[in-house]
Amino acid sequence: MKVVTSFEMAEIDRLTIEHYGIPSMVLMERAALTVSKHVLKFNPENVIVLAGPGNNGGDGIACARLLKNKIKNIKIFQLFSEDKLSKDCKAQLDIAKKFGVPVVEGYPKDDEILSADVVIDAIFGTGLKRAIEGELAQFIEKLNSFQKFIVAVDIPSGVSSDTGEVLGVALKANTTLTFGLPKRGHLLFPGRGCTGELFVEDIGFPQELTESENLKICTIEPSFARLLIPPRPKYSHKTKYGHVLVIAGSTGKTGAALMTSKAALRTGSGLVTMAVPAALKVVFQSKVLEEMLLPLACTTNTLSKQALPEILDFINERANVVAFGPGVGVNEDIEVILKALIEQCPCPIVIDADGITVLGRIINILEKATSQIVLTPHPGELSRLINISVKEIEKQRIDIAQKVAKQLNVVLVLKGVPTVVAEPQGWVYLNTTGNPGMATGGSGDVLTGIIASLIGQGLAPFYASVLGVYLHGLSGDIAARAKGYHGLIAGDIIESIPEAFIELTK
Ligand code: ACO
Repeated sequence: MKVVTSFEMAEIDRLTIEHYGIPSMVLMERAALTVSKHVLKFNPENVIVLAGPGNNGGDGIACARLLKNKIKNIKIFQLFSEDKLSKDCKAQLDIAKKFGVPVVEGYPKDDEILSADVVIDAIFGTGLKRAIEGELAQFIEKLNSFQKFIVAVDIPSGVSSDTGEVLGVALKANTTLTFGLPKRGHLLFPGRGCTGELFVEDIGFPQELTESENLKICTIEPSFARLLIPPRPKYSHKTKYGHVLVIAGSTGKTGAALMTSKAALRTGSGLVTMAVPAALKVVFQSKVLEEMLLPLACTTNTLSKQALPEILDFINERANVVAFGPGVGVNEDIEVILKALIEQCPCPIVIDADGITVLGRIINILEKATSQIVLTPHPGELSRLINISVKEIEKQRIDIAQKVAKQLNVVLVLKGVPTVVAEPQGWVYLNTTGNPGMATGGSGDVLTGIIASLIGQGLAPFYASVLGVYLHGLSGDIAARAKGYHGLIAGDIIESIPEAFIELTK
């Protein structure tokens, strides 16, 4: 599903009204109808509607009118004076009054809030322009402290539709009904935390607008992820499912290499070979069963540049994708190896962790890349790579990922909530799976293995990354069902990958 900014949604609204000829009052009526139906599901006796000055207020007022004959007590609190109301909001207010809906100009008293079963938040929608201040800010804070059941119309008041930032103060909704398409603010924190359960309602916007090719930000829906799963024909052989070369691991970080490799196998790779420092051969040998080892020349702790010819030979003869970086170490030898790989590798490379840190020293080398590169940084790694603060990245994770993918000509997987997958032409997918239990060491190594495996099985690097982050999150969700969040470890995610495939293909 496409995800939009307030500007993009306003354009969809405008064209629906001006070009297609659906009056704005009709859109409001449909929006109000979906909210009223949702509210009725909770069988409330007392409902209050908090109405703002714009069309969001209009939606809420229309909703109160539709609920009037269906529930015992409904009251509109019109928080702004009539002279501040938009044309359609004023029109809705006039209609509501004619229908006999009680309207109070001003804020509800404490006892009126406390006796409400449901509070409908129609103060601001996508038109919020600046921080909420003064009396209204204090009122919102108080309302949050009462912990009433809040249904937000379009977006919780105070959340920026574009960045998910809280502008001054924001209502914490239990459920949010948005119309047409989700807004960025529903998916980005802290807005996501205020949204509660999100329902995206169809109120009749033309498909031509909601599915326009010009809207390049999408969520990863299960139906789409399912389509990307590489086929597994009955008559086939392991060589059909790719050979991943995992270049990872060093003294003290052997687990990173093992987790990347195991995740690749659990994702369906035909073969996985681990290129590791020869000095650690015994350690690895005691840990691997299905993986193959390629012990290589090393320094005291990591691979040495002397290993390069053997690595390149192996790739040219056997591997069809490289996973580079988890626990590989950060030094000049690793830098030499990575540089040569980017300049000479005939197959895609997924670069993660230490690999990204090393890449930061030779970033311009990407201009000479001979194959497609996938980078999987967390905000800290991306910050070091492009010299932008983590705070700034978190504030604009979608735009920054989109820009960096284009600038560096790579597939960029910016890990976090939500994980953003961007490619050079501007297409971006936001992940919808995953949970806080996955914030644990090794989780990223697992993702690297999953993405590399899917590339090896024939998916284009961008789509392998889209499916990869979805499967990774789903595996984490499955693991969390059995283990909860606190005790979840990266190995649990790996063990749940097979079930994630089963669940996704059900
Ligand atoms: N403090 C005080 N007032 C503020 C603040 C603030 N921090 N921020 C904004 N405002 C006021 C402004 O006066 C602004 O009005 P202005 O544009 O005249 O300056 C008003 O709040 C904005 O209110 P909203 O209701 O958030 O914005 P808008 O009127 O654009 O409506 C909309 C948003 C279309 C209702 C959207 O949230 C929605 O729900 N869409 C669903 C579809 C729908 O109902 N469509 C029917 C309307 S069609 C149309 O509007 C084109």
